[in-house]
Amino acid sequence: MTIILGLESSCDETAAALVSDDRCVLAHRVAGQEAEHRPYGGVVPEIAARAHAEALTPLIEAVFRDAGLSLGQVDAIAATAGPGLIGGVMVGLVTGKALAHAVRKPLIAVNHLEGHALSPRLTAPELAFPYLLLLVSGGHCQLLRVEGVGRYRRLATTIDDAAGEAFDKTAKLLGLGFPGGPAVEQAALRGDPKAVPLPRPLKGSAEPHFSFAGLKSAVMRAQQSGHYSVEDIAASFSAAVVDCLVDRTARALESSEGVTALVVAGGVAANGAVRAALQALAENNGIPFIAPPLWLCTDNAAMIGWAGAERFALGLVDGMDVPARPRWPLDPEGEKVRGAGVKA
Ligand code: KG4
Ligand code: ZN
Repeated sequence: MTIILGLESSCDETAAALVSDDRCVLAHRVAGQEAEHRPYGGVVPEIAARAHAEALTPLIEAVFRDAGLSLGQVDAIAATAGPGLIGGVMVGLVTGKALAHAVRKPLIAVNHLEGHALSPRLTAPELAFPYLLLLVSGGHCQLLRVEGVGRYRRLATTIDDAAGEAFDKTAKLLGLGFPGGPAVEQAALRGDPKAVPLPRPLKGSAEPHFSFAGLKSAVMRAQQSGHYSVEDIAASFSAAVVDCLVDRTARALESSEGVTALVVAGGVAANGAVRAALQALAENNGIPFIAPPLWLCTDNAAMIGWAGAERFALGLVDGMDVPARPRWPLDPEGEKVRGAGVKA
């Protein structure tokens, strides 16, 4: 059995996990930074980096305690090397390098997006390549054909905001606080999804790309009009996002011959309405729908450890000179899209 220590620190969650190649999460811990960032209504990079530096070592000690293992018993150390907020990424990667050097074990530099992309295979052993992945997080909104470990073909991306970013901005506008996704989801459950007429940007367009900036502006106008309750705006916004995600994913499915499953990953995959709508889409297309459990959707280190295990099995390890990368596309060949500003 191979055991990998996974480390994650690319945004506002510090996490450590011990994962084995037979799909056991031996221990995993996540420390959020909501309290530190809440006064600013969003993630402040400098505050995040300092919080990672404080939290990471105690978390690593804790997962070894939880699992009853010692550092000498791991076979490799996998750390997120990007994309993300560079200060935080450096904290995790440098820690990973130091530990790997200390016990003379290989280092695996994991792309955070690959962590999300392969995470469904940790809990669904039957999930085989190639699969169509909707990767929806705070920084990314992409459709990818996952052909193998390290082999990703990007079919679509957002031309402006990511879906999670839209949830976070809507939450801020509606005074629902931070982090926004879960707060908007809760408010939406008490509202009428048909109450506010909102646009579905790019719905029906030929390429399966996404756009959420216009939706965000429409939410702002609805809120400023004073005609609608927070719950109705939240419900109408969620319905619009779900519609867009489903329409764009359906378009990508049309051109994705031979995929074994429709898979969703990333923080927005924790949303119940998103999961239900994608499940129905998969059923209509006669393919299985696979979504990781909620704790594996939002940022965590088990997915980094698991991606590390998948890479390790193929002999894909990295040197001590591997850099921390603020930007790191999964598919470097992915065409540049009009207006696409890839957020860290
Ligand atoms: O994957 P993740 O933890 O971090 C990034 O890599 O970005 O995703 C975080 C994003 C945030 O924008 C958050 O608001 C969103 O995922 N999110 C949700 C839900 N839980 C988290 N969005 C909608 N509904 C949720 N339940
Ligand atoms: Zn993420």
